[in-house]
Amino acid sequence: MKEERIGLYAGSFDPVTNGHVDIARRAAGLFDHVVIAVARNPGKSPMFSVEERLAFLNEVFSNCEDVSITSFSGLLVNLARDVGAKAIIKGLRAVSDFEFEFQMALMNRRLNPDIETVFLMTDADKAFLSSSLVKEVAQLGGDISGLVPESVERALRKKTGSA
Ligand code: PNS
Repeated sequence: MKEERIGLYAGSFDPVTNGHVDIARRAAGLFDHVVIAVARNPGKSPMFSVEERLAFLNEVFSNCEDVSITSFSGLLVNLARDVGAKAIIKGLRAVSDFEFEFQMALMNRRLNPDIETVFLMTDADKAFLSSSLVKEVAQLGGDISGLVPESVERALRKKTGSA
């Protein structure tokens, strides 16, 4: 039987944006299965709890059988090994993303040479999007419609008091 090709797409997703959704959908077109993993990163002070971030992702991808959602702590390459992923998926927006992503890809390769990093490009109309910018705009009362899934938009409005 042919081995299932699994891709791993990890991030903070605080919160998931339509840019993330675009990358995950592109990855789902390339892999048999995509695991989206929310990093439990105690170093950052997130706006949304890991459980809230998982709930957003579960809702967005509820109709996608080929996508599963999880959370993790520790090294990403260890999660890749544990879920049987051959590739780590990273989204690239602009050249500015590349330098750090390149460093991480080579470090991950050093940690586990069996796992490749695959870079996917977002749609041009999402190239300016980031979770932190969306949060800032929401906090300052700006319009975030179309930038994040609707459930995230509602939660952001509630959290920032701009409902
Ligand atoms: O959405 P983010 O915050 O840019 O995601 C970064 C993330 C979670 C993918 C990255 O920090 C990561 O891989 N963390 C897991 C810990 C790890 O493996 N660190 C070594 C990376 S070379």
